[in-house]
Amino acid sequence: MHPKQLQALHVDAKHKWYFWGNQTGKTTGGAVEIVAASLGRHPIYNKIWQPALTCWASALSWELWEKILLPELLTWIPRDRLIKAPTPHQHSSNREILIRADNGRISRITGKAAEQGADKYQSARVHLVWLDEEHPEAVWDEMQPRLLRHGGRTIATITPLKGLTWLFRRVYEPWKLGKTAAGTTFCSHAGLTDNPSIKPEEIALLAEELKHNPSQLEARLYGHFTKPTGLCLNLPDTQRIEISDKELERLFARGQPIAGIDFGAWRFAFILGVPDEHGRMVLTDEIYSQRETLDVRAQRIHDLLTLRKVKPENFWIWGDCANPQDIMEINAAFARIQIKDPAGKIVGQSQYRVTAVMAENKIIKVGVTRLENLISRGALVVRRAIGAYQVWMLGANSARAGVPIEGSRLLWEIDNWQYPKTDDAKVQKDVPDDATADGADMMATLRYMVMTWWKSAPAEVHAKEHAEDAKVAPFRSAQEREKESDRYVPMGHSEEETAGGSTWHVPRFGTEE
Ligand SMILES: Nc1ncnc2c1ncn2[C@@H]1O[C@H](COP(=O)(O)OP(=O)(O)OP(=O)(O)O)[C@@H](O)[C@H]1O
Ligand SMILES: [Mg+2]
Repeated sequence: MHPKQLQALHVDAKHKWYFWGNQTGKTTGGAVEIVAASLGRHPIYNKIWQPALTCWASALSWELWEKILLPELLTWIPRDRLIKAPTPHQHSSNREILIRADNGRISRITGKAAEQGADKYQSARVHLVWLDEEHPEAVWDEMQPRLLRHGGRTIATITPLKGLTWLFRRVYEPWKLGKTAAGTTFCSHAGLTDNPSIKPEEIALLAEELKHNPSQLEARLYGHFTKPTGLCLNLPDTQRIEISDKELERLFARGQPIAGIDFGAWRFAFILGVPDEHGRMVLTDEIYSQRETLDVRAQRIHDLLTLRKVKPENFWIWGDCANPQDIMEINAAFARIQIKDPAGKIVGQSQYRVTAVMAENKIIKVGVTRLENLISRGALVVRRAIGAYQVWMLGANSARAGVPIEGSRLLWEIDNWQYPKTDDAKVQKDVPDDATADGADMMATLRYMVMTWWKSAPAEVHAKEHAEDAKVAPFRSAQEREKESDRYVPMGHSEEETAGGSTWHVPRFGTEE
């Protein structure tokens, strides 16, 4: 073992965190700790317990478990002590390793994978849990009650590639600030240069490869937490606010609401927001729909907007103009929703409509920068209960059922999503839920809203890259926006004519026309 691994091995803390760079020997370190403890040879854990020990070795996916954790664990188990283990690369559903310890008793190392969902992390007594790479916060939460009760310990070996996630907020920052109770937490950093098997050429190569992505490089080389250069949003807790029903009603009665939509069969996102008297946008509601028909989706949106008493006049739901067909179809679905009077007589159709915002991929960066800007200035807040109680499937597609997640998809994206860096294919293996397979739909939706509603004011003299975002104008009412007629052209006009502005006008069909 190299000196950093040895140092970590001898640490006596309830929760031990290796925040180390890539290829620094984290996984090796974790495997050695687990095997040593199972055998009864660990300098710390075996002072607390003698075998038989029950341990968990957890990866983000079964694939990683089979390909990385299992072979690494087997490397360190003496042949004559291995009683039973799955054969690597056999896709076995058996995930138990049994080891005869020095005292003759039998320890057990059970495989786990975060993709099973957090509820699989409740169990009877476990002495030692090893998490390889950053697991979802829900997994951590699920484990705590049992660990607390039984005095279990954890080891986590992580390259903090995802930046300032729950790990930073809940673990690293409090530890750094000396706010964790003595003996509970230990964090360690190590870099590539700590691993004697890595040649300087390899480090130079990585540095070259990631020269445009300094935060990734920091994390990969040294295991430092940095804000990823990927398109992530950091919504502080102070901007996740409790709003009573009464207050909600008041907000919608006074402000002009705005909504955004992002189409997709597997992932369809809708967000509703309303400005408050401080000029902040308050995101109040979301609908995340997977594999539902357009009629169901339109009805859900209609019901939500009706509940919030949103008047259809001057209210638009903004969607990406790259989906004109989707927009037409959902508007047709709105038109099929019949409005009845209390006596059950049909008096009209739903008047809510989607309209297009010019939002081609090129402006993602601007949209996100603007969002970040709004968030950092406190101009964007989210109702804490947004999307509460809804259950959606992470990673669902035609081949996979996905993993159920409860709660807001928007907040989940804000907390977890990182824009995949296409110029560095390796990043994606580290993204647990694979951002390419399960993208940032709510964020796209939010961008459409933001790009539409906040117009950039002339920039201050600011040599900054995104000077245009330095100042952001307050809300304008829909009427005001309508007055800027040059920005609105009737549907059917050529793209050229709309290129300078940002919207198309989609007529409402219906009773009054
Ligand atoms: N003490 C050591 N001395 C020499 N080589 C080591 C040492 N520890 C680990 N290695 C080797 O370094 C390489 C990386 O180790 P390991 O896979 O444990 O790192 P990691 O930090 O988990 O990497 P990744 O970021 O890819 O998950 C492996 O080839 C491993 O065998
Ligand atoms: Mg590893």
